[in-house]
Amino acid sequence: MDVSAFCSQSRVLIVAGKGGVGKTTMVAALAHMAAEAGMSVLVVELEGRSSVGAAFGLDEALGYDGAVLRAAGATLVDDHDPSDTAAIPPGTVQARTITPDDALLEYLADHGLKRISKRLMSSGIVDIVAGAIPGIRDILVLGKVKQIERSGIADLVLVDAPATGHTMTFLSSAGGLVDAARGGPLRNQAADVVALLSDPARCQVALVTLPEEMPVNEVIEAAYQLEDKVGIALGPVIVNACHTPVAGLDVPAEDAVAAAGLALDPSVVSALEEARQFRQTRHQLQEEQIRRLARELPLSQLRVPFLFTAAIGPVELDLLSGALAAGVKSLPDPVEVSS
Ligand SMILES: Nc1ncnc2c1ncn2[C@@H]1O[C@H](COP(=O)(O)OP(=O)(O)OP(=O)(O)O)[C@@H](O)[C@H]1O
Ligand SMILES: [Mg+2]
Repeated sequence: MDVSAFCSQSRVLIVAGKGGVGKTTMVAALAHMAAEAGMSVLVVELEGRSSVGAAFGLDEALGYDGAVLRAAGATLVDDHDPSDTAAIPPGTVQARTITPDDALLEYLADHGLKRISKRLMSSGIVDIVAGAIPGIRDILVLGKVKQIERSGIADLVLVDAPATGHTMTFLSSAGGLVDAARGGPLRNQAADVVALLSDPARCQVALVTLPEEMPVNEVIEAAYQLEDKVGIALGPVIVNACHTPVAGLDVPAEDAVAAAGLALDPSVVSALEEARQFRQTRHQLQEEQIRRLARELPLSQLRVPFLFTAAIGPVELDLLSGALAAGVKSLPDPVEVSS
């Protein structure tokens, strides 16, 4: 499948998974891949402590107004128009943070309450309301995502979701409110969010996992829960940090050293042998988990290599997005959408 066809399957792609599996890194890699294919991309960060900018070579944390992470045709950070209604140019990645408080301010302003909204916020009444209506914060944030999706300012909106446990609540809050409330503007907002989440042409989830036992167990459980409780369509599972096979790793270090005509200290040879066995075992264990994932979760997989590096910067981002793109190209066309 062609990269732009893949990225056009739904305008919103929520990238979710267990804590620390590489969600933010995969958001950056997907954004880079889509921009390389000429698409306009908006990354939405929810927790405001994202390192998504770092992968693009940007130091500062993202603000509500956002930042340009990649300008068209270059990876340099550029000036940008902070108004959130301006269309993002093709080949560009922008990012912004959405917090419940900001989303609420905007919601109140849109409903003619702009003058009192600041005062309501500073009086702390919002916390009281939030306590009384479970899930209101999630609904406000997703309501804002829906508004962005509807505005059409970007071809692809990538949402860096909270870690799995919270994602489940985050995505099921709207459904809960629709069931509980009889009417009113908030119920309408929740109903709009449910409509977004349950339409595979508008919104899908890409789950990220590591090729290890516990993360694989969790991703399988999360996938079924997301389908059953939220009714959201799942795109391919991204298997991050896969050890790539190394040629010649099946030859014992001693034989390889002898064949190369090297005279190494025995302690060096035994250290090499240990490293060889470690890497080989690790690779085999990962392959086993990847096969199990394929058996237990009938979704396509996109494999991304583990990079031996201290941090992910623009060079690494290029490699990761290249690996994703290669995976996408080998997906059948059209990709199956599970419902
Ligand atoms: N393929 C990879 N190769 C090497 N390092 C990686 C890879 N993917 C992610 N990392 C590193 O692993 C760490 C965790 O990644 P990341 O922050 O993307 O995870 P996360 O799922 O967003 O975490 P959190 O749940 O805390 O938001 C980071 O230091 C990141 O640079
Ligand atoms: Mg993250």
